[in-house]
Amino acid sequence: MPRQIKINTEFTVYDSLEELKEQDKELLLLAKKTSENAYAPYSNFFVGAAVLLENGIIVTGNNQENAAYPSGLCAERVAVFHASSQYPGVKIKTIAVTAKSSKQIIRTPVPPCGGCRQSLSEYEVKFKSPVRVILSGQEGPVYISDSISNLLPLSFTAESL
Ligand code: THU
Repeated sequence: MPRQIKINTEFTVYDSLEELKEQDKELLLLAKKTSENAYAPYSNFFVGAAVLLENGIIVTGNNQENAAYPSGLCAERVAVFHASSQYPGVKIKTIAVTAKSSKQIIRTPVPPCGGCRQSLSEYEVKFKSPVRVILSGQEGPVYISDSISNLLPLSFTAESL
């Protein structure tokens, strides 16, 4: 007989950035500042990511677009690839992601795309340590989760290879 399994994911919802703990708020504010330097002339959707490493260093990244659209890269991957290339052995503790658009005010947290979830998940597996995720829009609620696995259940990992 087939049986069903349930996979739960969990986020904590804060009504606004003001409710966050100081360290989380600072990381998110840095992500916001970084989003202003995104190179997004095609989408006008400016994403910023700030990655807190275990050694206290913060690495940031923003989306980089290209006239050949698929050649661009999301903010989250720019940030974590930068972190991993500069500090290869250092655990990634938290990533904060936010976005703004020149077309509308973003009032809901911006969820990382599937490719970024996969890339982020790699570092949880590599370091055997969960990566916290902080997601926000330009204003409004902030979602926080204790692990990327809440964004990408049943993820494909090296264990399958
Ligand atoms: N983008 C990100 O940087 N992160 C995401 O998680 C979603 C999308 C970027 C890619 C592209 O430059 C623009 O947002 C519109 O998709």
